[in-house]
Amino acid sequence: MLLENLSLLFFKNYDEASLSFSPHINCFIGDNGSGKTNLLDAIHYLSLTKSAFNSSDAQNIKQGEEYFMVKGRFVVEGEKHTVLCSLKQGQKKTVTHNKVLYEKMSEHIGRFPVVLISPYDTDLIREGSEERRKYFDSLISQLNHTYLEQLIQYNYILKQRNSLLKQFAERHYFDKDYLHILNEQLVPFGQQLAQERAAFLETFVPVFQKHYRHISDSSETVTLTYKSQLLGTSFEQQLLQAERKDLALQRTTVGPHKDDFVFLMDGNPVKNFGSQGQQKSYVIALKLAHFEVMAERQHHKPLLLLDDIFDRLDEKRITKLMQMVAAHTFGQIFLTDTHLDRTDKILSGLSESIRRFEVKEGKVSLIG
Ligand SMILES: Nc1ncnc2c1ncn2[C@@H]1O[C@H](COP(=O)(O)OP(=O)(O)OP(=O)(O)O)[C@@H](O)[C@H]1O
Ligand SMILES: [Mg+2]
Repeated sequence: MLLENLSLLFFKNYDEASLSFSPHINCFIGDNGSGKTNLLDAIHYLSLTKSAFNSSDAQNIKQGEEYFMVKGRFVVEGEKHTVLCSLKQGQKKTVTHNKVLYEKMSEHIGRFPVVLISPYDTDLIREGSEERRKYFDSLISQLNHTYLEQLIQYNYILKQRNSLLKQFAERHYFDKDYLHILNEQLVPFGQQLAQERAAFLETFVPVFQKHYRHISDSSETVTLTYKSQLLGTSFEQQLLQAERKDLALQRTTVGPHKDDFVFLMDGNPVKNFGSQGQQKSYVIALKLAHFEVMAERQHHKPLLLLDDIFDRLDEKRITKLMQMVAAHTFGQIFLTDTHLDRTDKILSGLSESIRRFEVKEGKVSLIG
C-alpha cells in the first residue's frame, strides 16, 4: 500500500500544502515547532479519521480559520483510492472515499492502515489503563471489524446503563427490571470483547517478544498480559454483585471498560522496573509487532510513520531498525528529523528511493 500524495488546507499550522511521495522513504526535516509531526498526523487522519494527538477534531483547524481539509491518494494493489477528511467549525466531520461519503466512520477503519512510532508511545507505560485499552481496542478494531462493531455496541449500552443509574439517584427510584434488561444486552458484548482481547494477545505476545529480543539485544524477558474481571467468571453475576455499588457510584463498575493490559519485564511492571532505555525498547517492540500482525492479517504493509526516532534512540537501536528497513521489512516510510545531515548519514547505506522535504513554519518544500 502506498500514499502517492497528500494535500492539506488549514490543517494545524498549515495554510496549504501539496506533496507527492516516494514509494519508499520520505523525510520531513525542519526545526522544532515547524510542522513535521503535523504532517504525520495528517496521514494518521487519512487512515483512522482522527488525530493521533488531539482528541478534539476542532483543535486541528488552523487557528482563526473556519475549516480544515486533508486529502490523500492511496494505491492498493494497483487501485487508486482518494480519501478526504474535512471538518467545518461547529459541524460534523466528514470522510469520503472516492467521493462517496461514509455513513459510518467505522467502515473506513482498517482499510488504509498506518503505524505511528512517536515520542509519546511511552505514555502507554506511564499512563493509566484507559490509554492501554484505547490502544489495543484501536489495534484489534483495525484487524477485526466485528470487534469494532461489538465495541461500539458495548459502549452505547454502557452509556445508557450509566445514565439510568444516574437517573435512579437523581429521581430517587429504582427500576430493577429495566436495569436487568440493559444487563442482558451488555453481557454478550462484554464477554465477546474480553475473549477477543485475550485471543489477540495469544498471537501478539510472541511477535512482540521476538521484536523486543531483536531491538534490545538483551536477556530480560518481556511480556504483556490481559487483566480482566470477566475471564473465567460470568459477567452477568458480576453485574448483579456490583449492583449496590453501581447504584451508589452512579456508574457501571465492572466490565471490559475496566480491564487492563499489564506490561511486564522479568515479571515486574515495566513502569517501575524498566529503565528509560528499556521502556523505549518495550514500546518500539510493541509497535513493530503491531506492524507485523497488521501486515500479516491484511496482506499489505501499513504505512510506517517514524516521529523523531533518530533523536530518541541510541545508535545500536537505530542500526537495528535500519537493518529492518534494508531487509524490506516495511513498505512506505515517513519520518521526521531536525537534522538533515544526521538523516542523510543514517540512510546513506540504503538503496531505497528517498525523498526529502524541508519544513519551515508551516510550509513544506521538496529538497530532493
Ligand atoms: N490548530 C492549530 N492552529 C495553528 N497552529 C497549530 C495548530 N495546532 C498546532 N499548531 C502548531 O503547530 C506547531 C507544531 O507543529 P509540529 O508538532 O508538527 O512541530 P514539529 O516540527 O514536529 O516540532 P518538533 O521538532 O518540536 O517535534 C506548533 O507551533 C503549534 O502551535
Ligand atoms: Mg514533532
